[in-house]
Amino acid sequence: MSAALVVGTQWGDEGKAKVIDYLSAQIDCIVRYQGGANAGHTVVVDGETYIFHLIPSGILYPNATCVIGNGVVLDPGAFSDEMEALKKRNIDVMGRMVISDACHIVLPLHRIIDAHRENSAGSKKIGTTKRGIGICYGDKTMRIGLRVGDLSHANKLRDRLGHILEIKNHELVNLYKLPEVSFNELYDSLLKFGETIRPMVKNTSFYLNEKLASGKTVLLEGAQGTGLDIDFGTYPYVTSSNTTTGGAIAGSGIDFRYLKTVTGISKAYVSRVGEGPFPTELFGADGDKLRELGHEYGATTGRPRRCGWFDVELVRHAARVNGLTEIALTKIDVLSPYDTLKIGVGYKRDGVKLPAFPSDGDLDGITVEYEEMPGWKSEIGHVLKYADLPKACCNYIKRLEELCGVPIKIVSVGPGREHTIALA
Ligand code: GDP
Ligand code: IMO
Ligand code: MG
Repeated sequence: MSAALVVGTQWGDEGKAKVIDYLSAQIDCIVRYQGGANAGHTVVVDGETYIFHLIPSGILYPNATCVIGNGVVLDPGAFSDEMEALKKRNIDVMGRMVISDACHIVLPLHRIIDAHRENSAGSKKIGTTKRGIGICYGDKTMRIGLRVGDLSHANKLRDRLGHILEIKNHELVNLYKLPEVSFNELYDSLLKFGETIRPMVKNTSFYLNEKLASGKTVLLEGAQGTGLDIDFGTYPYVTSSNTTTGGAIAGSGIDFRYLKTVTGISKAYVSRVGEGPFPTELFGADGDKLRELGHEYGATTGRPRRCGWFDVELVRHAARVNGLTEIALTKIDVLSPYDTLKIGVGYKRDGVKLPAFPSDGDLDGITVEYEEMPGWKSEIGHVLKYADLPKACCNYIKRLEELCGVPIKIVSVGPGREHTIALA
């Protein structure tokens, strides 16, 4: 009957999966629409931690169906590993999962090229997850990609893969000086993977619109964040998909008129992993302190995340490009030990205030104007109601709401499903 969307408003790892898990209790279908195994989505239920990369976090609800939409790039190895790991934890994926036949496949050579380019880029590296994401989306756009639907017929796969390898082997050998990929081995493994997933493969746009028309609810699970969007992020230090609302429609194929809420997930501070500008970043002991308090280490690569103060200009930008109807503010408990908190309220360049987050994502030479607020200096992880939060904490939340111009409807005070406060 209606669709809801959850998007990251910063540079990823905002706590999207934690909020998606909270919202999924009432949802029939949870859908990934972009990105791939570069995502690391953590959910904590009854003290058990689950980290998802490709499979939507809604799989933890036994009655929900999970969909990998056409906009996702599907890595057969990563998907199979994740499915196996969940099976070991008694979670059935096979029977509750639907995969789009239009999904592009991440080939091992995409990972090889991604890693090779990163390792040889020196100061020009992006800091990718080396999961082959950008290379796979590049081939999609170049129209030399392999899709899930191509795996369904041996002859079709033979023909398509042969064409792709002719081009990619030329690139591997002549451009990167890397060994070429053998056709037979890759063909066999893809054919086998195709057989494994065949019962799950569907026209997911049709499937989802039918569900919506019959009164079912759909939640679209964003990966990464607005600052990493290929168009609206800090290019070239971005991922290779549209992480924002437009990407959710294009990557799921739902009729946009079903979309009723767009929840932006904002961490009460900011983190970033990989290279790229970060105006409110904290360095040295200040950065280390926030990283340790927030346990900010990558859920996919284990890399330490860069940390800094809340950046209003970034979230305002996310509010605009996503059409946010509400914000879920996460990890506010992490700020409890601070005497005072800073909020980045605006950008200046050459002493002149910028009207908005720069559309070219170029943040060089930016200085940030800060506001300072008193902290609350008490643990809040156990608090269940907004009214029971310390006054200074409510003031911080209300000030962020005012500055971002979007109502804050959910406040998260811990990693668990139960650590979630809904605001009236
Ligand atoms: P995602 O990629 O946006 O889903 O976020 P990640 O899972 O990569 O990173 C968020 C991390 O913060 C995970 O370890 C979560 O368990 C944790 N987390 C989420 N919300 C909260 C919160 O409100 N408080 C605390 N302390 N941890 C949280
Ligand atoms: P979730 O969904 C944080 C970053 C990488 C790198 C850039 C490009 O967990 O929020 P890529 O491998 O996509 O080509 O890398 O994007 N990145 C993420 N950062 N969270 C993520 O996902 C990310 N996915 C990619 O670190 O800077
Ligand atoms: Mg993550």
